[in-house]
Amino acid sequence: MHRLTPHVPIATAPPATPKRLHVITWGCQMNVYDSARMTDVLRPLGYAPATDAASADMVILNTCHIRDRATEKLFSELGRLRRIKDARAAEGATTIIAVAGCVAQAEGREILARAPFVDIVLGPQTYHRLPEMVARAARAAKGEGNVGVIDTDFPVEQKFDFLPAATGPQLPGGVAAFLTVQEGCDKFCSFCVVPYTRGAEASRPAASVLDEARRLVEGGVREITLLGQNVNAYHGVGPDGSTWSLARLLTALAAIPCLRRLRYTTSHPRDMGPDLIAAHGDLPALMPFLHLPVQSGSDRMLAAMNRGHDRAEYLALVARLRAARPDLALSSDFIVGHPGESEADFEETLSLIREVRFAQAFSFKYSARPGTPAAGAEGQVPEAVKDARLARLQALIRAQQDEFNAASVGAVMPVLFTGRGRKPGQLSGRSPYLQAVHAIAPDGLIGSEATVTIEAMLTNSLTATLLRERACA
Ligand code: 5AD
Ligand code: SF4
Repeated sequence: MHRLTPHVPIATAPPATPKRLHVITWGCQMNVYDSARMTDVLRPLGYAPATDAASADMVILNTCHIRDRATEKLFSELGRLRRIKDARAAEGATTIIAVAGCVAQAEGREILARAPFVDIVLGPQTYHRLPEMVARAARAAKGEGNVGVIDTDFPVEQKFDFLPAATGPQLPGGVAAFLTVQEGCDKFCSFCVVPYTRGAEASRPAASVLDEARRLVEGGVREITLLGQNVNAYHGVGPDGSTWSLARLLTALAAIPCLRRLRYTTSHPRDMGPDLIAAHGDLPALMPFLHLPVQSGSDRMLAAMNRGHDRAEYLALVARLRAARPDLALSSDFIVGHPGESEADFEETLSLIREVRFAQAFSFKYSARPGTPAAGAEGQVPEAVKDARLARLQALIRAQQDEFNAASVGAVMPVLFTGRGRKPGQLSGRSPYLQAVHAIAPDGLIGSEATVTIEAMLTNSLTATLLRERACA
């Protein structure tokens, strides 16, 4: 493949005077990962992370377009940033404002038109070119070029080839990290903007994923969540030149010493191949908790949503997964009020939830995304109806979640300690099912796995007593 060279070589950029970078992240875990990588890309230019916008030389607003009032939210936040920029300018300081992520991708020109004080607009595929954009924005600030740098291409080069090494954990506690292995989506669900903002489905080469994972583990990471809009569609080139599936990649990752936990998200039911189902039984490091969005339990709605499977196929898939890994717990995404959804369709969703029994789920009111097929479809559902359905669905999910957590009491399970708890002497961590767990334990166990007995369920967490440490292997 033809590769472009970035105009400012990342590795050799001179260490400039210290500057402060504040990144505001909205949306999914992929955005959290992207924000961390943008921070890495700018570090050689002298930018160190700042916790607030008021003292930052550069602010990146990493946006999400998937639901709700993405555009209004962006312009209201930009209004706040403009006041900061003006106040700093009055003191002789410059502030570069960059808008990144999916709203930037979808509305790049409109952003510069409505908010001309924005210096850079970049899409999710071009952040490896940030150093070049910052240089251009700085020239523009001195009156030496056009104002407003916009880069929302889907470039031919792979951004991952140009990124400096990931610097380590991105979550507080530093033990659990995200790692993007796949981006984009070719599924074109009726309601979803992702295929338009993130582009076609593309996978990262396995060797680069394995390298990044090894570096993260050397930096203390014990749990890695592989990310992708359609992560189980992963089909990266392997070190041997063959195409690797997600199952193959997970198997290779599971062999990295001290990498105790693997997860992946988000998956499409249609891409749950037999080897991936089998991996849930074969790989102890693969956590028994799977996010498998179904969106609706109604065949009519699943067809209208262009999901490519029906209710019976989803239920059969859940049965196969549970046969491979009997202690598997599931989570899902649901949309209520997709155009055309009748009361009977909604009841089908509730009945699917009762049948599967989820440990957790995310649920949303349908919100029209301009340019998607559902946005112009007939049968838009009134907001009040959506509100009522969402409340009923969330009550059912909440009950199932409480039931799942209550069933953990008395269980013996591994917990990965990520940091100190609220009470003195307590550490907090998470279970294989991503439940928050607190236990009295020595600080030295932060960053390690230990076996605990779950004692009680609180509103949003579990308490436990420590049984024994599990050495890293
Ligand atoms: N309206 C409501 N929810 C949506 N999602 C995606 N697009 C929309 C939309 N237009 C939800 C889906 C998806 C999750 C990430 O966001 O449930 O799985
Ligand atoms: Fe959007 Fe559907 Fe692709 Fe998921 S599978 S990213 S919901 S188009």
